Amino acid sequence: MKKLFAFLASALMVLSLAACSNNGGGNNDTPTDNGGANTDKKVYNIGVSIYKFDDNFMTLYRKEIESYFKTLNTDEVEYQVTIQDGKGDMAEQTNQIDNFIAQDYDALIINLVQATSAATVIDKCEAANKPCIFINREPSEEDMKKFPGMITYVGADARQSGKYQGELIADLPNNGDLNGDGILQYVMVVGDPENVDAKYRTEFSISQYEAVSGLKVEKLDEQRGDWDQAKGQEIVANALTQYGDKIEAVFCNNDAMALGAAQAITAAGRKVGEDIYLVGVDALAEAVDLVSTGGMTGTVLNDHINQSHQAVDCAVMAVKGDKLDPYYWIDYIKVTPENVDKYK
Ligand code: GAL
Repeated sequence: MKKLFAFLASALMVLSLAACSNNGGGNNDTPTDNGGANTDKKVYNIGVSIYKFDDNFMTLYRKEIESYFKTLNTDEVEYQVTIQDGKGDMAEQTNQIDNFIAQDYDALIINLVQATSAATVIDKCEAANKPCIFINREPSEEDMKKFPGMITYVGADARQSGKYQGELIADLPNNGDLNGDGILQYVMVVGDPENVDAKYRTEFSISQYEAVSGLKVEKLDEQRGDWDQAKGQEIVANALTQYGDKIEAVFCNNDAMALGAAQAITAAGRKVGEDIYLVGVDALAEAVDLVSTGGMTGTVLNDHINQSHQAVDCAVMAVKGDKLDPYYWIDYIKVTPENVDKYK
């Protein structure tokens, strides 16, 4: 019975994908003829799967993928883009990938739910000779050696964002050391431990702080907030209750959690810039506003515009038969009260 349900579910999935992609599939050599007025028009089907739609930063990213693809449509070429929600579930995302391949899509853009599943995804792509562009969640270096020319990772080096966070605090006139004891007492709010962005930001923010300030650090608390604003608020509210004035700085692996932290800090009657410091990553519009009004010490621009455009450009290269480099890197940029106006 279970098997019958599973079969029906995947059959439905294939049907719904087919409905989204009304020109059916295509491949590198023979892009689909759209059967419309211009019979020479090449139609490429691009399958995109985002680890979950309910993520502030990846929402901006996916919308930019969609709108940038639209700007590339001409009388001769059309990109039909199907974007699916991985819902934070690797099994669900694997199904989506299987269906993109079964439907003979021309290229895949994948924001993995689990970076450790890259090898399996690459093997599937290789067996079907489909190019795959990984975004945002970096697979291991070893996995990236598979299927050369046909797979790539487009992203930003998370070590850089971590270092910039450390510098945002270390470069303050008092190095963030409000109580002058030569030690920065801090709280770390982590994205999710499986993600290299979270791992590197957690590690490099602190090592760079120590290197630049020459001071020591004391970690009061480190909790997992899953990139989520409500969780960020809860974690920092609890830390403030427990450690009170001892906390000098709050490092959040992203802005959504920093926005939650900012709420908790205000609710506890503390004031960023006066008796506590707060940094995030992404440069979400609300965080940029807080940096300019003093509600956050700083953030780091995670450039979703250039990352999404690069990912799309890679898909375009791949469907035209060009070989892809293994990596395409986009720089992070430090956002401080001094330069914040540029990012509004
Ligand atoms: C990070 C970003 C986070 C979250 C995460 C998802 O690069 O800073 O806000 O979107 O990716 O993997």
